[in-house]
Amino acid sequence: MRVVTILILLFFCKAAERKGSPGGARNRVNHSRAGGSRKGSSLVKRYAPGLPCEVYTYLHEKYLDCQERKLVYVLPGWPQDLLHMLLARNKIRVLKNSMFSKFKKLKSLDLQQNEISKIESEAFFGLNKLTTLLLQHNQMKVLTEEVFIYTPLLSYLRLYDNPWHCTCEMETLISMLQIPRNRNLGNYAKCESPQGLKNKKLRQIKSEQLCNEEEKAHLDPKPQVSGKPPVIKPEVDSSLCHNYVFPIRTLDCKRKELKKVPNNIPPDIVKLDLSHNKINQLRPKEFEDAHELKKLNLSSNGVQFIDPAAFLGLTHLEELDLSNNSLQNFDYGVLEDLYFLKLLWLRDNPWRCDYNIHYLYYWLMHHYNVHYNGLECKMPEEYKGWFVGKYVRSYYEECPKDKLPAYPETFDQDTEDDEWEKIYKDHTAKKQSVRITIVG
Ligand SMILES: *[C@@H]1O[C@H](CO)[C@@H](O)[C@H](O)[C@H]1NC(C)=O
Ligand SMILES: *[C@@H]1O[C@H](CO)[C@@H](O)[C@H](O)[C@H]1NC(C)=O
Ligand SMILES: *[C@@H]1O[C@H](CO)[C@@H](O)[C@H](O)[C@H]1NC(C)=O
Repeated sequence: MRVVTILILLFFCKAAERKGSPGGARNRVNHSRAGGSRKGSSLVKRYAPGLPCEVYTYLHEKYLDCQERKLVYVLPGWPQDLLHMLLARNKIRVLKNSMFSKFKKLKSLDLQQNEISKIESEAFFGLNKLTTLLLQHNQMKVLTEEVFIYTPLLSYLRLYDNPWHCTCEMETLISMLQIPRNRNLGNYAKCESPQGLKNKKLRQIKSEQLCNEEEKAHLDPKPQVSGKPPVIKPEVDSSLCHNYVFPIRTLDCKRKELKKVPNNIPPDIVKLDLSHNKINQLRPKEFEDAHELKKLNLSSNGVQFIDPAAFLGLTHLEELDLSNNSLQNFDYGVLEDLYFLKLLWLRDNPWRCDYNIHYLYYWLMHHYNVHYNGLECKMPEEYKGWFVGKYVRSYYEECPKDKLPAYPETFDQDTEDDEWEKIYKDHTAKKQSVRITIVG
């Protein structure tokens, strides 16, 4: 009964929202259907730009249906006694260690049609009841048998339509698939590269074939390049920029009239200044090779769009300056790779306060150690000048408070200028003192 009440309330709130703010909700999101609901997960669900996931029981087995929700990770609040988890057609890119370890009863896991390119070695930890695993239509190139040591009952595994790179690294997996009792593991999966093994079935390759190819790759003068798909010629060359080594490795590409992010950024760069260029969008994996990058300045570029995978690989990034661009919101997923982000400049962008800004706001709310500034509505007219936090709260205030999660009052507004300067200085000072300590 209570669930039904909540659903009805939610429905009315959504309806009110659509009526109340003409500029709001550029309906990419389908608000009109309501799914299953579980207390506790609702907060997180709300920033998945879609519908809540459905939990249901069929023939005494509990299912979670969370397909096509643009998920990049499992959400807290999913019931732990699920037997079947349907996560197809989402945006998951990495399966992290122990990602599913809470779901000890899981028998089947459907991850097909995601963007998985990496499975960490303990990703399936705890899944010792798992029998079925669907990984077809993803982006995996290599995988080893190791990841399956936690799934002793696995009897049905789909791996086809992944760009398998059949080298020595794949040997353990391929041998596993070839054991006669593993009849239903990895059928139909084929190599994409190297050229000599293209379209060969994994289950039919002999280990000598694999390892010879690997040796050839070693003899190749540029082994890293040869493993990748053919890369288009550099469109923008980072040699236009100045490269400094001291005090930190910096690539200074300020005011170079660049229309794109240079694609040969040296991998050891710590600071990259791309300010005052003409980069109007960030494409997937723009900074993929810059593993060491800690500071990235993209201010004053006219950036309008950031692909959700643009920052992939920037795990160590601490400071990101996106001020003075043309951003109206962030697509779901844009910030997920920035595990160590501390400072985020958002000033002087035409932030549009509608449903699409919720992701950015909730991400910041959940990452309370990230300091940011300049998140102020510029559009539509009725919210102009409001802090985005105030707008988001007003969005939910039309609903009875006790039925919806309460948002911390302290998260009202972004940092005031004076305070921001202080945070910025503290942050810089702290880092310097750390460096001095290490040196001394
Ligand atoms: C949105 O939901 C309505 C009602 O359930 C449905 O008819 C419509 O096809 C859905 N649209 C999309 C884009 O999913
Ligand atoms: C980014 O570059 C702009 C202009 O070059 C500069 O004013 C700003 O301070 C830089 N941001 C950071 C975080 O250093
Ligand atoms: C903001 O960016 C524009 C170009 O997009 C530039 O002309 C202008 O000088 C920048 N403003 C500041 C304060 O840096």
